[in-house]
Amino acid sequence: MAIKHYLQFSDFTLDEYEHVIERTRVIKRKFKNYEPYHPLADRTLVMVFEKNSTRTRLSFEAGMHQLGGAAIYLNTRDSQLGRGEPIEDAAQVMSRMCDVIMIRTFGQEIIDRFAAYSRVPVINGLTNEHHPCQVLADVFTYIEQRGSIQGKTVAWIGDANNMLYSWLQAAEVFGFHVNVSTPKGYDIDPQLVSPRNQRYTVFANPGDACDGVDLVTTDVWTSMGYEDENAARLKAFDGWIVDSAKMARAKADALFMHCLPAHRGEEVSAEVIDGPQSVVWNEAENRLHVQKALLEYLVLGKVS
Ligand code: CP
Ligand code: NVA
Repeated sequence: MAIKHYLQFSDFTLDEYEHVIERTRVIKRKFKNYEPYHPLADRTLVMVFEKNSTRTRLSFEAGMHQLGGAAIYLNTRDSQLGRGEPIEDAAQVMSRMCDVIMIRTFGQEIIDRFAAYSRVPVINGLTNEHHPCQVLADVFTYIEQRGSIQGKTVAWIGDANNMLYSWLQAAEVFGFHVNVSTPKGYDIDPQLVSPRNQRYTVFANPGDACDGVDLVTTDVWTSMGYEDENAARLKAFDGWIVDSAKMARAKADALFMHCLPAHRGEEVSAEVIDGPQSVVWNEAENRLHVQKALLEYLVLGKVS
């Protein structure tokens, strides 16, 4: 049987997402009721981090424990990956010792190569190009708060980064629209978007992108790995802050999301992220619940 990986948002069909979302609801309810649920007893998750993390590590590690399994943390600094062991060799070795692997790394081609040599499912815990687990949590959070996301409009204000590319794939799968506004020079790389994707519109002015939308979302102006560009980005992104003026152009019941960590006063004002429309803490918590459903699905298939 072919192994199922989760390397990009587009790797799952709507039917698979509907299953994972339903399982997320069930698994979240059990967690809230302190009801033990150990479908992954004796299973092991290996987590490989080549970049920093708080939420991704914690949610995968805690989630695997809560499902009855074990999680092992490796990073570049003190594993052989940092000393140049070929990714293909690492994939073959690691995947003989565990049941599922999560990787946070730089280029998408690294995780693609790893997956090609892995005997077990591989999950993308963030690459330069994609962050599917976060957008899965975001879509779940939207549905939990407001119902179906189909036909809704999301405003993406800021950098054309991994989060945006995953949102654009999610828009195709779930049938919603994304209004994108990025500063000049930081716009969408067409090679990272399917030529068939008609689910987004580009706006030169970030305020215009927020007009009448159901959800406003943003992310840091400088992603991990791009720190050398920070000073230039601070200048270029001037005006792209999500503040109350921009939120006022969205629907009155619009939500605000941010994958975190956030920089108040840069991409978002304190008033917005700490205000009544913000659901960032639910969004962060939901990483735990959606990823438990994802682990269950990738390791055990569709259970009910
Ligand atoms: N949102 C997110 O992935 O956070 P971490 O970098 O803390 O894992
Ligand atoms: N775009 C950010 C997301 C961090 C969770 C980054 O890649 O650093």
